[in-house]
Amino acid sequence: MILKGTFLHTPALGALEIRPNAFLITDRARVVGLYDTLPPEYEGQPVTDWGDALIIPAFTDLHIHAPQIINRGIGYDKELLPWLETYTFPAEGRFGDLSFAERAWKAFLNHLWAVGTLRFSAFTTIHKEAAWRLMELTEQSGLRGLIGKVNMDRNSPDDLKEDTMASLADTEELICRSREELRHTGFILTPRFVPSTTPMLMDGLGVLAERYALPVQSHLSENPSEVAWVAQLHPDIPTYTQVYEDYGLLPRGRTIMAHAIHLSDREKDLLREKEVMLAHCALSNTNLSSGIMPLRQNLSLGLRCCVASDVAGGHTANLARSITATVQTSKLNWLHHPDQSSLSLTEAFYLATRGAGSFFGDVGAFLPGFDFDALVLRPSALDALVERTPFERLEQFLYDGDDRNIAARYCAGSLVEQPFPELELA
Ligand code: GUN
Ligand code: FE
Repeated sequence: MILKGTFLHTPALGALEIRPNAFLITDRARVVGLYDTLPPEYEGQPVTDWGDALIIPAFTDLHIHAPQIINRGIGYDKELLPWLETYTFPAEGRFGDLSFAERAWKAFLNHLWAVGTLRFSAFTTIHKEAAWRLMELTEQSGLRGLIGKVNMDRNSPDDLKEDTMASLADTEELICRSREELRHTGFILTPRFVPSTTPMLMDGLGVLAERYALPVQSHLSENPSEVAWVAQLHPDIPTYTQVYEDYGLLPRGRTIMAHAIHLSDREKDLLREKEVMLAHCALSNTNLSSGIMPLRQNLSLGLRCCVASDVAGGHTANLARSITATVQTSKLNWLHHPDQSSLSLTEAFYLATRGAGSFFGDVGAFLPGFDFDALVLRPSALDALVERTPFERLEQFLYDGDDRNIAARYCAGSLVEQPFPELELA
């Protein structure tokens, strides 16, 4: 495939490359290269000319709760623990109904497609059938996802509290089935968080993580009451991070931990050593009054970080809004910690594209050999009133967050159409 347009990407943190009127060549899923003039060997081949469109890497969201999409924007009058009890658990309980789940998943995938999130790692609920259905639908959608059935067997409402052995058996069944039947959709182990998983369950999941070389996702140190609760539940383990480590749930380079706000230096050392991806959820952290993650400090310490939505703690799946909220909260953090500079928009954009994409391998930038994931942005009539530089166009797209500017989407080298258009017509 040969595409023409103005390409903008961030190959490294703080680096911005803009290539006006350039040619991008792909071979199946991958980028071959980005050229100012078409190399002679490609002369005469068809070119998709996007004219004056701006072409940027598509978003990757490494922390989103698929069932909670129904609750986005609702219930931010409480902090984490009462929020879970009041709003989140009742919503997740509905996914025992497979026909409801089916409709919700299709709407969820259509929505991610619409807002330009073409790769993701999602929590589902405890329900095995619903989790499997999201895996199948993701495979059909043209998007790329890691999907986890949630494990929870303590401190949970009756309808969401699993039997420990059944939870492990259901999980292993999904792991095996997805390996046999799906090519592009992966399973990710998903203990909800330490307070809702017994030591026996965490132990069993740690065994599965090793046996199947699986990735793991969970929550870590989001809220002070939660952190105190973990200390009370595990008085013999020095830190929250160490609990996961002791149960084999921090496989090196394959772990995503969401929030990670209230951490000691010792925990940060362990997270760096294990190459854990910290999912920074600026919208959720403000909506639930959880705190401000010292993102600049964490990046300077060499921790892996990305920007994620955490719907429905975050009120929207549109990562443009999480990117701008990341910049905004980092400015507030700087006011209180002048030694920690705020993030630039370029840096926050990197964290939602190349930063997050790195969890999937060579994803998130237009470099040779990388999977070609892209959004084609067209200026609206309002945007077109004034001539803007490519970077100004990116700024306006991210701050305004209007997904109607997205004219086309590519994932792993293929143009992706709306996955389930029949749903919108129904
Ligand atoms: N901690 C445990 N479960 C959840 C959840 O669903 N959302 C958030 N933000 N934190 C959690
Ligand atoms: Fe979350």
